[in-house]
Amino acid sequence: MKTIFSGIQPSGTPTIGNYIGAMKHFVELQSQYDSYFCIVDEHAITVPQERLKLRQQTRSLAALYLAVGLDPSKATIFIQSEVSAHAEAAWIVQCNSSIGELERMTQFKDKSAKQGKSQVSAGLLTYPPLMVADIILYQTDVVPVGEDQKQHLELTRDFAQRFNSRYGNGNQLLTIPEVYIPKEGGRIMSLQEPTKKMSKSDSSKKAFISMLDEPNVIRKKIRSAVTDSSGIIEYDETEKPAISNLLTIFSAFSGESVDALVERYRATGYAVFKNDLAEAIIQVLEPIQKRHDELMNSSELDDILDEGAEKARRSANKTLKKMQNAVGLGRKRR
Ligand code: AQP
Repeated sequence: MKTIFSGIQPSGTPTIGNYIGAMKHFVELQSQYDSYFCIVDEHAITVPQERLKLRQQTRSLAALYLAVGLDPSKATIFIQSEVSAHAEAAWIVQCNSSIGELERMTQFKDKSAKQGKSQVSAGLLTYPPLMVADIILYQTDVVPVGEDQKQHLELTRDFAQRFNSRYGNGNQLLTIPEVYIPKEGGRIMSLQEPTKKMSKSDSSKKAFISMLDEPNVIRKKIRSAVTDSSGIIEYDETEKPAISNLLTIFSAFSGESVDALVERYRATGYAVFKNDLAEAIIQVLEPIQKRHDELMNSSELDDILDEGAEKARRSANKTLKKMQNAVGLGRKRR
């Protein structure tokens, strides 16, 4: 079986963008691969977080992984900071990466340009090597992610190739991973600014639907989603980005094709379309939310995470040892 790894940051409650672009595919892929799904809390602290809120979001994200249908008998579900190999391998990755290539990463470039280098953490520059470590530690073949992660996957592939040729003596020490981006829904846009990605840390709560939003909040947010003045429902990302985004969301939640939806709603106007879209989202999210709430108050969740961390440690430590040997860290016993 090939291996997949993916993770989500507990930097807020996941949005329907995280669900459509990532989580939904995790569930589909878990039976076909040896699967590792991680709650990447170390990535979340590259920007300031409130301690208790971060803890709560970490637990909640783990509960959501299970509530959407990840099955611990098929997939290893764990918290990144509970597997110390991630931080250890990230150091080796950093020492084999150049500052230039890290400064070219979009997140660092954007945030440091906006806020100034003295205002952003060094972690914002060095988190891509941590992400490289996350992936290579499991000898990952495939990484299912949204489109925004493409650049990080390129960095991972470049690193693994460089490491193999620098230290491998002709052997492949690290697997070169492939990226898996869904054909549709790889980039769900903000409900308020349809040219901007939907993000869980957006300062405007109206810009995203969180997976734990209550039905009435979802209805309200969809009603206030920006559209355009034409009143016609059709898919055209350039001319009608807002409606096209809503169609993509509708299709992901209802399982119907965009074409079928356009056919049905072309002449109904935006109000009917938005009403039905909100109900389609609620229908999927309500049972997930119910299961999430049950798990939050259970020791079952802790048991699953303990077991997941144990399994992940066993696997990650093997690759870490290989990397340490390759670069000459530690000693060889006589
Ligand atoms: N809008 C999106 N459309 C499709 N996929 C998305 N993903 C994120 N936003 C969208 C995918 O979700 C996975 C987890 O992402 P993450 O939380 O680790 O980091 P992110 O990409 O930075 O997500 P956010 O929501 O934008 O978080 P914040 O606001 O904290 O930065 C990834 O596979 C990602 O592609």
